[in-house]
Amino acid sequence: MTPIAHETLIGLLRAAAMDEHAAIIQYLRHAYMMGESSLSCEIEAVARDEMRHFWILSRWIVKLGGEPLTDRGFTDFSGATPPEWMARNVEAEDRAIAMYRDILGRTDDADVRADIAYILADEERHRQQFVKFGAEVRAEMTAAAGEPTDAAPEAALAAVDKEALEWGVQHEYAALLQYLMHSFLLHTQPDGEISDRLELEAVNEMQHLGWLGEKLAGHGLELPWTPHTVEVPSDTEAMLQADVNLEQSTSARYGQFLTQMADPALKSVVEDVRGQELYHESLFNRLLKRVAQQPASGAPSSSPRTWTIGSLKQKEVK
Ligand SMILES: [Fe+2]
Ligand SMILES: [Fe+2]
Ligand SMILES: [Fe+2]
Ligand SMILES: [Fe+2]
Repeated sequence: MTPIAHETLIGLLRAAAMDEHAAIIQYLRHAYMMGESSLSCEIEAVARDEMRHFWILSRWIVKLGGEPLTDRGFTDFSGATPPEWMARNVEAEDRAIAMYRDILGRTDDADVRADIAYILADEERHRQQFVKFGAEVRAEMTAAAGEPTDAAPEAALAAVDKEALEWGVQHEYAALLQYLMHSFLLHTQPDGEISDRLELEAVNEMQHLGWLGEKLAGHGLELPWTPHTVEVPSDTEAMLQADVNLEQSTSARYGQFLTQMADPALKSVVEDVRGQELYHESLFNRLLKRVAQQPASGAPSSSPRTWTIGSLKQKEVK
């Protein structure tokens, strides 16, 4: 094997990160549109695997001196029925399998290869799962054909309820990306709890995306798959401050929606989400205070509190 140039490897990993981001969104969308079922839970679990892959690849991009990114690769929004969606997901896994085999065939970095081989094994398992899910939903649809349906159609959403859910989906999508980015950028800091908590809360924001997204999908509505602005400042304090600000403005906006919303069941979902945002704000404030209290004496350029993405690569030890 002729080893590829460093920049080429970074480029391949960036393309892979964009595809992992796309897979997260493609699978979450299908899970929400399928409503509450054990199958949609299994699809959401696959999306969580893709989130972990996104995290691992983004960490490598930073370690190798590249710029991590929140851009999304090709996301397949086509298909009208669950069997068609599962077929699209098999295709997405086929693309991922080919891509990771290609990267394995082109890099001789043992550590990168170990992580890519781990991800590839996940993708091969996902492919099998989506083939099985496709067969299951086809069988369910055949069994249900001709049976009278007792499910009453969902009442139309009030305009303000729809606005609240759509705003929430775009916010939760951005919060999920922001906390993931901050988590892997802060991963090598001495205070490892900050990175760990940001990753945990990113998973929590993904749950919020699900709570709100399932309600829109339950009314036959497409989710707005464009996140609000994602802030990625260059030092720990600025990141945590941006996270506190995001939580503050979010709980305020959800609070406004709650005074206007019509459907009590939807209000109760937004109330639950808002309660967790208030907790996130207090958690990020607590972490911010701790970082601010760390002694800043000594040479500012070597302070563990401040760095840029570019300087991270010099500090990283593989
Ligand atoms: Fe993946
Ligand atoms: Fe996958
Ligand atoms: Fe949230
Ligand atoms: Fe939050």
